[in-house]
This record gives sequence, C-alpha cells and structure tokens, in this order.
Amino acid sequence: MASQLLSAAGKFVSLPEKYVRPESQRPRLHDVINDTNIPIIDLGSPDKQQIVAQVADACRSFGFFQKMMGVASEFFHLPPEEKAKYYSDDPTKKMRLKESVRNWRDYVRLHCYPLEEFVPGFRLLGAISLSLELEEDYLEKILGEQEQHMAVNYYPTCPDPELTYGLPAHTDPNVLTILLQDPNVAGLQILKDGRWIAVRPLPNTLVVNVADQLQALSNGRYMSVRHRAVVNSDKERISVASFLCPGNGVVISPPEKLVGGDGCPAMYRSYTYDEYYDKFWSRALDEHCLDFFKR
Ligand code: OGA
Ligand code: NI
Repeated sequence: MASQLLSAAGKFVSLPEKYVRPESQRPRLHDVINDTNIPIIDLGSPDKQQIVAQVADACRSFGFFQKMMGVASEFFHLPPEEKAKYYSDDPTKKMRLKESVRNWRDYVRLHCYPLEEFVPGFRLLGAISLSLELEEDYLEKILGEQEQHMAVNYYPTCPDPELTYGLPAHTDPNVLTILLQDPNVAGLQILKDGRWIAVRPLPNTLVVNVADQLQALSNGRYMSVRHRAVVNSDKERISVASFLCPGNGVVISPPEKLVGGDGCPAMYRSYTYDEYYDKFWSRALDEHCLDFFKR
C-alpha cells in the first residue's frame, strides 16, 4: 500500500515493530570498519594500460571500486498523493515506487533505454573485458541488447539504525552496478574477508560493483560483492543505483578462454538472463541466486 511508504508517513519517534530485525540479524554498527583504501580509478586517464590493470586488481580484490544529485530528493518530498500514482508491486512495470516491508527505504525503479544515453557503463565494460584478457568489445557484444535499470533509493532518518537496514546484505543480479551516492551521507557497506567496510562517499565519484552476471561470465575470477545499506538517525540519504543488465534472451556462459586451461572448470551452467531474473525475484532474500546455477 502506498500508505506504507516511509516518505509518506511523516517523522517516526520510534522504530515500528515490523522493521525491527531479530537480534542475530542486526547491523552491529560498532563492528564495521571505516573505509581506508577502496580502490579509486580515474577512467579519464590517458594511460589505458594502467586503467585496465587497476580494474583487474579492484574486481579481483574487492569486486568493487569508485570512479555526480538533486532531482531524486525532490521526488521523495512530493506530496503523498503524487507519489501514490507511481506505487506498484508489479516487477514488470517500467516505473514503480515501492515501500519495502522491513527495510528502511523507499525506492523508485526505472527501466532506461537506450543504453547509449547512460554513458559510464560503456568504457567500463571495455576496461573490464581487457582486464580479463578478452577482446575490448567482448562483454559489450555478449550482453546483447543491454538494458539499464535504475533504482532511486530514499532512506529517511531512522529512529533506531541499530535495529534495521535500508537494504540488508545482498548481491546485485545484473552485470555491473554503478552507484551515485549522496556525497555527505554514508550508508553503503561492503563485505570483505568476513568484515563489513563502510564506504566513505567521495564527491564526483561513482561506486562500481561487480554483480552476479560478471561473476558468472568471468567464471568466478571476479566476485559479485555482498553489500548493504544502513541508515542514520539524523540524516536522510539518497542513492541512485544504475544496474547494467544483459538483454533478456542472452545466454550467460563464460568464454572458453576462462574455462579449463588453468584448471578452472565452469562454475555455473549456462542460463538465460530471463531465467536468472525470475529466480532472483522468487527466491528467499538470504539465498544467493548464483548458487542455484552451480554445476
Ligand atoms: C541497491 C543498493 C546501495 C545504496 O540498490 O542494490 O545496493 O547505498 N544500494 O543505496
Ligand atoms: Ni545492491
């Protein structure tokens, strides 16, 4: 129900029961490490070889690296009746606003085409292909008629950030995610070596994370990073996630070059992105979707 949207509800003085996570599933914010050295890559650098080497390193070690806001905030501060027009639970809708039960966020999901209008993905895919020692246009070609979906996330101030999440731990189902975050409000955390690391937002910097399809296409060389969003008691936060997706009928299967040879058999069976996406939305949230496709 649109009336459940957090951004339509006014200010909360205490956290409503349904957002309170069981003790064992809480964020344990004291245990989170502050980001010191998450790789930052200058994609505008003339030294292409260096970019490729940095991308390879970042995707292998973190599954994550960092590489522009205002309109989104206006949307979530529209009157409730206006926002209600966009509210939907139907995942096939091209634009929908959702409240997520038990997550301290509202979000809008947009399907955007054509890709050429959302440039940053392109050069990135070239650099990532090269970093896997593939032809520069390999990924771009294999991904077919790519789609770019966007989620505009709104995390209101929260009366008790220790008891809930904006978004609980997950990996993204697509190929690559590019996240624009509020430069002044932290909230994104990534899991590395069993510990949560808080990503400090940097001005004029996009966050890039490896998502499930890149893990599958690279035959496990690059890992789809587990990440989550926590919330704040004194500051609302907005982020815009742009999900690079393969065309729907595209078969996801790693190139021969990355299979066998150095003793690395195919980790996952081939499947179409359609099939994966359906599974992703129908599984339980704590199940890693790629596990269903393991050989
Ligand atoms: C997502 C996501 C993180 C954030 O939308 O999938 O991980 O910081 N967002 O909002
Ligand atoms: Ni995500």
